Amino acid sequence: MASRRISVVTAGLSQPSSSRLLADRLADATVARLRLDQIDVAVDVFELRDIATEVTNNLLTGFPSPALGRVIDTVTTADGLIVVSPIFTSSYSGLFKSFVDLLEPQSLSGMPVLMGATGGTPRHSLALEYSMRPLFTYLHAIVVPTAVFAATADWGTEADVANTLPARIERAGAELAELVSVSTRSPSPVDPLALTTSFTDLLGEHTPRSK
Ligand SMILES: Cc1cc2nc3c(=O)[nH]c(=O)nc-3n(C[C@H](O)[C@H](O)[C@H](O)COP(=O)(O)O)c2cc1C
Repeated sequence: MASRRISVVTAGLSQPSSSRLLADRLADATVARLRLDQIDVAVDVFELRDIATEVTNNLLTGFPSPALGRVIDTVTTADGLIVVSPIFTSSYSGLFKSFVDLLEPQSLSGMPVLMGATGGTPRHSLALEYSMRPLFTYLHAIVVPTAVFAATADWGTEADVANTLPARIERAGAELAELVSVSTRSPSPVDPLALTTSFTDLLGEHTPRSK
């Protein structure tokens, strides 16, 4: 039986988080489709609120903590990626962008990506198209056509036939599953110029002493 690995990154701040809820629903839809094709799937879910301090420290120091490094490795070597951000001031959240800023620019090249977002108002549903899609296009990811925005009003009325959220989740999951099933991604190449030793070790005895 073939197997694939999907990473899920969600940037919700609330507990419970509607972004996490949407991410789980998108992952379930993707996994169900892959299993129909006899493909075994492992899913790793990362809530950025749990590593928010480490993300900031990495931005300040240039180095990830071991735990954050493992998250980045898992995400960038997956066969597919689901990302969900809350919409803040009509765009993806700052925490979401800070995490993406830590990824090597080539590390998501060719990665199948499904985008989702949550917001208070359906009037901001196009934020996925004008802010998040260009971000992943710049990173050369392969973003599925259906991006799923869930407004507050979408939750709790899902049994209502007029609510399109379940159908949009199904369609997006099927689109990601199709790309993941044929994915031939290999782990991101090692950058021969990447710094593997800390500045402190490199400087050795020349490290400036505090007064
Ligand atoms: C600072 C702030 C700005 C927000 N701006 C928007 C916005 O521009 N458009 C929108 O639809 N919702 C906006 N919201 C609402 C959040 O996107 C919404 O509550 C989201 O679903 C929260 O996700 P979570 O439950 O995963 O934390 C904003 C919320 C906060 C706290």
